[in-house]
Amino acid sequence: MYRTNTCGELTASDKGKTVTLSGWVHRRRDHGGVIFIDLRDRYGLTQVVFDPEFDKKSWETAEKVRPEFVLKVTGEVRLRMKGQENKNLKTGEVEVYINEAEVLNESKTPPFEIDQEKPVGEELRLKYRYLDLRRNKMRDNIILRHKMVKMIRDFLDKEEFLEIETPILIKGTPEGSREYLVPSRLYPGKFFVLPQSPQQLKQLLMISGFDKYFQMARCFRDEDQRGDRQPEFTQLDLEMSFVEEKDVMEITERLFIELTEKLIPHKKILKKPFPVLTWKETMERFGSDKPDLRFEMEITDVSDIVKNSEFGVFKNAVKDGGVVKALKVEGIADWPRSELDKLEELARIHGAKGLAYFVYRENEIKSPIAKFLSEKEIEEITKKAKAKTGDIVFFGADNFITACEALGQVRLACADKLNLRDPETFSYVWVNEFPLFEKDKETGEIGAVHHPFTRPMDEDLKLLDTKPEEARSIAYDIVLNGVEVGGGSIRIHEHDLQQKIFDILKITPEDAEMRFGHMLEAFSYGAPPHGGIAPGLDRMVMLFTDEPNIREVIAFPKDQKAKDLTLGAPSDLPEKDIKEANIQILHKK
Ligand code: AMO
Ligand code: AMP
Repeated sequence: MYRTNTCGELTASDKGKTVTLSGWVHRRRDHGGVIFIDLRDRYGLTQVVFDPEFDKKSWETAEKVRPEFVLKVTGEVRLRMKGQENKNLKTGEVEVYINEAEVLNESKTPPFEIDQEKPVGEELRLKYRYLDLRRNKMRDNIILRHKMVKMIRDFLDKEEFLEIETPILIKGTPEGSREYLVPSRLYPGKFFVLPQSPQQLKQLLMISGFDKYFQMARCFRDEDQRGDRQPEFTQLDLEMSFVEEKDVMEITERLFIELTEKLIPHKKILKKPFPVLTWKETMERFGSDKPDLRFEMEITDVSDIVKNSEFGVFKNAVKDGGVVKALKVEGIADWPRSELDKLEELARIHGAKGLAYFVYRENEIKSPIAKFLSEKEIEEITKKAKAKTGDIVFFGADNFITACEALGQVRLACADKLNLRDPETFSYVWVNEFPLFEKDKETGEIGAVHHPFTRPMDEDLKLLDTKPEEARSIAYDIVLNGVEVGGGSIRIHEHDLQQKIFDILKITPEDAEMRFGHMLEAFSYGAPPHGGIAPGLDRMVMLFTDEPNIREVIAFPKDQKAKDLTLGAPSDLPEKDIKEANIQILHKK
């Protein structure tokens, strides 16, 4: 037998028992003859004691062990000496006096220390991920992830959802990213595509009558990496029939509240029920479709005040159909010029052409543009933005989205610098009424904002024939502390409306038939009204664990260049395998 107990469970009430433990040597201290080892497994640490007077043979074994050796020990549970207890440890009242010890396996010196949370280069951590996962923080993240998944399953089971698996080898499904392709061996020249999401399959399940479906769905997207993105990630994918937007929101909201209150009770949920902002409103007020509402700092519109101004930049922006927006930040009038330059650079990165500002000093306004504005204009702006001595007002003059987004970024940067984003507060917010379509910034082509199966708002259906770009959708995102944690929509369930959306997206009937013929056909066999959502599990765990990126909450993530460093993938393959997959390599880097 390897163990009678884990390393995380012995307490004073076990005094006198003979126990056997197995685990890793976490730390070893030699105290003038007596050797103390902290033995570790995933449950915790137990101090085991090797005293040559008590048992010479096991002490000799302890003499030769090194960190991360795997050890099996047997001995007697004793209370620690008065004053030697460790309150931070569940097992901190006791230690085990060892009379039998066996090295189960040795270990090379690990490439980084397991017993300390010292920063270690990410490449090394990912290459030796199995060692990295031995560290407390990573272990705790993985455990919290498990608990969250378990809680989600229990919650949805109670609500009569069915967990149904959908295939990984499928046909492309449009979610706006590049897809991973899998060549077919049996059908040369043909491909499977890995799902960007189970979107189409879950809709087909609704047509089958499984009116409440969910799945912990693995999704694959071949896109550029960022802290909150992975090429392979997990969605809590769910779909329901005979529901409206508010029904999907209601159940999602209840689930998020339960997860937050049970898993991280120390965090404060800012507002319940979660506020709902339309896309237009959140863009206008916070300059983002994923607003962080933990702090106020709102954007105002000053277009009307400056539309006839002498300042060409402002006047022309309005004349060209754009807007002039103002963001007031309190108490930063003493920030140095270099700080303001950094903010201007940030605004430019986000498409702005500049970042004009007023600095409200005692009795004067310092500004590179004040000389172009009349006293009346300055006064009205000050009033509208509610600015006072000590504040700065920033301006964005551009088309609606660019002006708002640039100031939205400035808003976040100022909040970071002012420490306004309290990590102990959870601010959930719904964003809805997204535009149905958007123009690609580079190609100018019209595309679906969410995906082409998203339903237009009833009152905007008539716009589809005249001004489709103004139509809004019944799509909604759930946002937590400025991160989009989930997105969903009510879907189209009628053949003709779906066909119309494909037409607007300039998907030719032949193309639509080839890519989505199965959906169009399915819609003609009694598709019920339906809708759903897919929270990103990795992002949820990331926020619940206060981690800065999702790699910290995935056991074996890809690195920032989309590589698997643990296994070393992607990798070369034997010529024969490539040939069998009917692939011919044209160039190789
Ligand atoms: P969407 O594309 O908005 O919607 O994705 C839903 C949620 O999945 C998470 N997510 C990601 N997480 C990590 N890495 C990525 N690369 C990544 N991409 C997305 C986000 C996001 O909010 N089928 C629809 C859902 C629906 O309509 O029901 C969909 O996939 O948290
Ligand atoms: P310029 O006239 O280009 O020298 O700009 C004068 C000031 O206005 C500078 O502080 C610029 O950063 C700012 N500015 C220029 N264009 C814009 C714009 N579109 N929106 C906001 N500020 C701008």
